[in-house]
Amino acid sequence: MASFEAQTLFILFFTLFFIKINGEFSRQSINMSTKRMEKITRLHFYFHDIVDGKHTTAMQIIRLPNKTATSFGTTFMVDDLLTEKPKPTSKLVGRAQGIYAFASQIDFGLLMVMNCSFSEGIYNGSAISIGRNAVLDTVREMPIVGGSGIFRFARGYALAKTVWPNKNGDAIVEYNVTVVHL
Ligand SMILES: *[C@@H]1O[C@H](CO)[C@@H](O)[C@H](O)[C@H]1NC(C)=O
Ligand SMILES: *[C@@H]1O[C@H](CO)[C@@H](O)[C@H](O)[C@H]1NC(C)=O
Ligand SMILES: *[C@@H]1O[C@H](CO)[C@@H](O)[C@H](O)[C@H]1NC(C)=O
Ligand SMILES: *[C@@H]1O[C@H](CO)[C@@H](O)[C@H](O)[C@H]1NC(C)=O
Ligand SMILES: *[C@@H]1O[C@H](CO)[C@@H](O)[C@H](O)[C@H]1NC(C)=O
Repeated sequence: MASFEAQTLFILFFTLFFIKINGEFSRQSINMSTKRMEKITRLHFYFHDIVDGKHTTAMQIIRLPNKTATSFGTTFMVDDLLTEKPKPTSKLVGRAQGIYAFASQIDFGLLMVMNCSFSEGIYNGSAISIGRNAVLDTVREMPIVGGSGIFRFARGYALAKTVWPNKNGDAIVEYNVTVVHL
């Protein structure tokens, strides 16, 4: 009980403080009675990253000096297709648009917006943003850091597994995404 009161006081203090410092620009208050129903959505799709050939979807925008032994810093800009089945010609459900950069030899930081504008129905126009990826793990886990449209207030995780790599660096990656949103 005491700790509950302390917490309430802290929240009240924080609210007043926040309103004060932000003045006209923003106003934040805490609605203690908010009980929103959250939805959980699971998505399954295949990501096609093509770095080679004439239908390139991933463009290297930072290239390292030839003698550098690591891939640290290598950066790609992507507009990759997301399809329902592993076949590149199967139904288009979205696009992954953004940047990925190798932050170490085994990790890459991914700043990617999965844009569902191509899909039908309720997902059309919605997007989720995805974070870091440990590229060498067989199944990689990435955080969902936000969303828009039906994915407002999104959080969750994505599991990814490369199902078809080739020596040029092209890849087809299977994704299972679990998103909690409003
Ligand atoms: C707080 O949230 C509840 C439940 O969502 C809502 O009914 C109520 O109107 C909200 N109060 C304010 C001041 O926004
Ligand atoms: C880097 O390597 C490529 C291919 O091996 C070569 O074409 C290019 O001239 C090299 N660049 C430098 C700056 O050495
Ligand atoms: C998503 O794709 C649609 C259709 O190409 C485009 O109009 C929209 O700007 C894209 N949104 C983002 C966040 O890239
Ligand atoms: C998605 O929504 C846009 C704008 O509302 C519309 O132009 C487009 O045809 C829709 N796409 C699909 C595949 O339903
Ligand atoms: C995605 O889920 C399917 C069905 O549960 C499973 O067969 C597949 O291995 C999963 N893939 C990943 C990358 O988690």
